[in-house]
Amino acid sequence: MRQKLVVGNWKMHGSRTQVRQLIEGVAAGSAGLAQVEIAIGPTLLHIGLAAELCASKGANHLKLAAQNLFAEPEGAFTGEVSAPMLAEYGVNYVIVGHSERRELFAETDQAVAAKFKAAQASGLIPILCVGESLAQREQGASADVVLAQLDAVIEAAGIEALQSAVLAYEPIWAIGTGKTASKEQAQEIHRVLREHMAKSNATVAQGIRIIYGGSVKAANATELFSQADIDGGLVGGASLKAEEFVSICKSAD
Ligand code: PGA
Repeated sequence: MRQKLVVGNWKMHGSRTQVRQLIEGVAAGSAGLAQVEIAIGPTLLHIGLAAELCASKGANHLKLAAQNLFAEPEGAFTGEVSAPMLAEYGVNYVIVGHSERRELFAETDQAVAAKFKAAQASGLIPILCVGESLAQREQGASADVVLAQLDAVIEAAGIEALQSAVLAYEPIWAIGTGKTASKEQAQEIHRVLREHMAKSNATVAQGIRIIYGGSVKAANATELFSQADIDGGLVGGASLKAEEFVSICKSAD
């Protein structure tokens, strides 16, 4: 049985006050949930504050996710943050290959694979994002696109590396658009991803959590999370409201 995972991706949002309020709200609302694993993803600047708050009584069931890292452990890389630095702050997860990073910051499959490996080398669990654009979906290329993105990491890191990773299917056309993939559309891609991994390693394929992202909200979380191959969610906009995010977490509990 795979434990469900719900991750809040706060993107570039939040002041210190908002970080505090959001963590307090999420911690209080989710305190009684026994099954679901919950992680919050503040900006890199707020990681230290969030780590302190999450370690406090009443919030220590919340895990911490970073939104990005750089693949080198240290050096002359102005403005970047490394995996060992995140690990020192008690970060558990790190998002790699988010479509916003691929598109806006020109991250290639190779760069994503390097980040994936660097995260694991420091004991962090990478959340590897894959997803197709609207044009690619309309061309019927969704499966090919996500499998190519996954294979780039498998080639670089090996299939066994996915044993300590999370996969996130995030169709680009559903991110921040309010247009969620239907439960059938999402389940189909999750199944394709799992079957693809099973060809190389059935144990890895059965064990890995594949979470869905793209306009997840309280109103659609239950039907998405009830699909056989959907093991939780990567939540953007709706993770910025404590009540809404807690309600999503409850759908996974
Ligand atoms: P959204 O973002 O929930 O706002 O669509 C999801 C994501 O980009 O991770």
